[in-house]
Amino acid sequence: MARSTNPTAEAHRDLLKDFFDDTARFKFHSLVAHGIYGSACRIKYHDPKGPALTNFLVKMSFPGKYHIDAMKTEKEYLKKMQANRHIVQLVNIPDNPLEDPLLNEDVDPDSWIIMEWLNHGTIGEFLMTAMAYLNSRGQKLPNRLLWRFFLCLIRGAIAMAWPDKRENVDDAVEESGIVHNDLHLNNVLMGAPPEDDEHTITPILKIIDFGCAGQIPSESASTGVQKNIYDLGNIMATLIALDDTDPRGRLPNPPKFTRNGVEMNTDCEKLVPAPAGVDPQLVELVCACTASDFNNRPTLPHLLAQASAAVRDRGVAFYNNNPRETDDKVKKIWQQLTMSGPYADPTDA
Ligand SMILES: Nc1ncnc2c1ncn2[C@@H]1O[C@H](COP(=O)(O)OP(=O)(O)OP(=O)(O)O)[C@@H](O)[C@H]1O
Ligand SMILES: [Mg+2]
Repeated sequence: MARSTNPTAEAHRDLLKDFFDDTARFKFHSLVAHGIYGSACRIKYHDPKGPALTNFLVKMSFPGKYHIDAMKTEKEYLKKMQANRHIVQLVNIPDNPLEDPLLNEDVDPDSWIIMEWLNHGTIGEFLMTAMAYLNSRGQKLPNRLLWRFFLCLIRGAIAMAWPDKRENVDDAVEESGIVHNDLHLNNVLMGAPPEDDEHTITPILKIIDFGCAGQIPSESASTGVQKNIYDLGNIMATLIALDDTDPRGRLPNPPKFTRNGVEMNTDCEKLVPAPAGVDPQLVELVCACTASDFNNRPTLPHLLAQASAAVRDRGVAFYNNNPRETDDKVKKIWQQLTMSGPYADPTDA
């Protein structure tokens, strides 16, 4: 979605302002984005059960069957995957004004979704800032941050493969075939780190925007998992290389890489040869995710095992005590890239 003005998005803004500013519990905050399909607005909410003001996001589609159908699809898939925190969470607001029959006779109940507010922006925005700071210095993002982001994306792909298995793979259950179909840098958002072992020094990444999602039948040649893995491989390649040239589409002469002694083609042009200073195992796995032959792509159990082990075991010592890999430095780097705006210098942290 663009962030400029649009008459229909403004109509949504005015409508939501009317609905939500009517009671002391809510405060309309801003129109966050809008696009071909609809708008996204941020609302503040005073939860009577707690002292703090919280935020949520109302995504609303423009009128028309095509847009409403995309919203219905998004809601349907999001509902299936709520057991996994790496998918944006739906929010239920008690006495929601959008559900008040007196207020909303003109609002199609299928035209909106309320979701948790993810406060650190998109990975696309993060990448832009990271490129601006780090490329001119010949630096990359720390390996320990990259592994953690990779693990979040893998957990998100697990949600699509096994929607009701929380964060874990379940080989005994057939994969669902769910495919996101629009998995790119601006459909991955960063939220505040939850208190657990995997997000101690980095934020949580969550997948949004399931309006194009679908389900690949099990008899198809390639699986939904293989397609999602390809897309998340491209996201990781862009973050590792700090190079946002469009990786999509098959290359006429894909570069080769070697994995477990076997040479194969990958669409990950920007990681061949591997950039200096980046963990070669990470590069190899990401190249495998975008292997041109989908049968060469790693499975989710394999990716989960590799990335979890790296997050658990690869501390600063593994990276030769590089000062950019300490817990404090990794934390400072992502915080400065996301929070301090375009003038902060994360390399000075
Ligand atoms: N839960 C959220 N928290 C914070 N910001 C969000 C959230 N969901 C969406 N946004 C913002 O709104 C933008 C558009 O959301 P989304 O991608 O779901 O809509 P879309 O209409 O499908 O847009 P597009 O066609 O551009 O992909 C996101 O890129 C992000 O900047
Ligand atoms: Mg989007």
